[in-house]
Amino acid sequence: MKAPAGFFSALVLLLLIGAVLGQRPRPRKPTRRPTTPRQPSVPEPQEPTDIPPLILGPPSPYPDCPRECLCSPSYPNSLNCENRNIRVIPVIPLRTHYLYLQNNYISEVTAEPFVNATDIRWINLANNRIHRIDRQVFQKIPALLYLYVQRNQLKEVPSGLPASLEQLRLSKNRISKIPAGALSKMGNLTLLDLYHNQLSDSDLSRNTFKDLSSLMQLNLAHNVLRKMPAGVPNNLIQLFLDKNRIEDIPKDYFQGFSHLAFVRLNYNQLSDKGVPRAVFNISTLLDLQLAHNQLTTIPLFSTHLEHLHLNHNTIQNINGTLICPRSLQGDMSDPSHIPRLRYLRLDGNQLSPPIPLDVIMCFRHLHSIVI
Ligand SMILES: *[C@@H]1O[C@H](CO)[C@@H](O)[C@H](O)[C@H]1NC(C)=O
Ligand SMILES: *[C@@H]1O[C@H](CO)[C@@H](O)[C@H](O)[C@H]1NC(C)=O
Ligand SMILES: *[C@@H]1O[C@H](CO)[C@@H](O)[C@H](O)[C@H]1NC(C)=O
Ligand SMILES: *[C@@H]1O[C@H](CO)[C@@H](O)[C@H](O)[C@H]1NC(C)=O
Repeated sequence: MKAPAGFFSALVLLLLIGAVLGQRPRPRKPTRRPTTPRQPSVPEPQEPTDIPPLILGPPSPYPDCPRECLCSPSYPNSLNCENRNIRVIPVIPLRTHYLYLQNNYISEVTAEPFVNATDIRWINLANNRIHRIDRQVFQKIPALLYLYVQRNQLKEVPSGLPASLEQLRLSKNRISKIPAGALSKMGNLTLLDLYHNQLSDSDLSRNTFKDLSSLMQLNLAHNVLRKMPAGVPNNLIQLFLDKNRIEDIPKDYFQGFSHLAFVRLNYNQLSDKGVPRAVFNISTLLDLQLAHNQLTTIPLFSTHLEHLHLNHNTIQNINGTLICPRSLQGDMSDPSHIPRLRYLRLDGNQLSPPIPLDVIMCFRHLHSIVI
């Protein structure tokens, strides 16, 4: 009888590799947080009231400070209106660069409050009830760099976004439409987050991302895609597609990307048939995540890959000779020839220890392997 322990217990083996091989610092992932000052995280607001919570402390030194907001003399360019039970955006003073409106009850964004606020660089509207943003808003604020509208009720990507934008966060809305041209002209956009919406294949055309030549981070995870998105800009560093329904990857999909380092496809429907053997043989790739799919074999990867997640697939055996990016017989005395894989997750498959010797022989930088 087979012991169930082999299936369910995760065995972590720390392979302490000799001093010869040395250690390398972990690669720094591109940061997902802005460097701009952040507000402390705050609880969900209570139900709206007509009167905003009392502002304690001395009266504002600024006569133009809206009654609902805080204007700090130490940060004359910030307008803090978060967690204030606000339903209507107040008139924004001219000096404002950073506008904090998160955690309120705003349902519409119209142009009037922004008529004099031409210098705004950063707007945080996260966690409101926004279902509409008038396109005229953006005509008033042509220098906008960061726009955060995650956790709202938008059904489509707003139109008329300024060409200056560098970060656009629209996660956790109900977006099922990207109007034609909505993302055009934004040649400086580096981050586009559409995580947790309702986008399907037909909502993305070959031209949707065409003009985003600076895009480095694209998050389309947690949507309803069946296909890999087409026309993704090839300067991308990070592509997240977890929790979709993707079944296959075209053979040449990753050809032409010159910086792609982080690819996540966890929780999809990838099987061996849908994953061409060498599709992930990309020399820039550092971190590849394919957990919770239906793979039975380990795809080929390059010597540069450092992290590989293959947990919760249906892999039954692992052949180190087959998956080794270099010939085991070849010359590995040159350290640059040694595959750089450091972290390998294989738990939740149909494997049990011990780890085959050829795996250990090939991946000499391996620090931890979870079976
Ligand atoms: C905008 O600025 C002009 C000129 O300073 C001023 O007259 C006007 O009242 C301002 N509008 C709003 C809505 O504050
Ligand atoms: C894009 O960024 C460059 C360099 O910072 C800047 O000169 C240019 O004006 C920006 N483009 C837009 C449309 O804002
Ligand atoms: C993987 O990529 C390397 C480097 O580009 C190449 O030499 C090798 O032939 C590729 N392997 C396969 C099976 O395509
Ligand atoms: C691994 O694959 C190689 C090459 O196909 C084969 O010669 C070898 O017997 C395999 N090893 C095991 C343990 O199946």
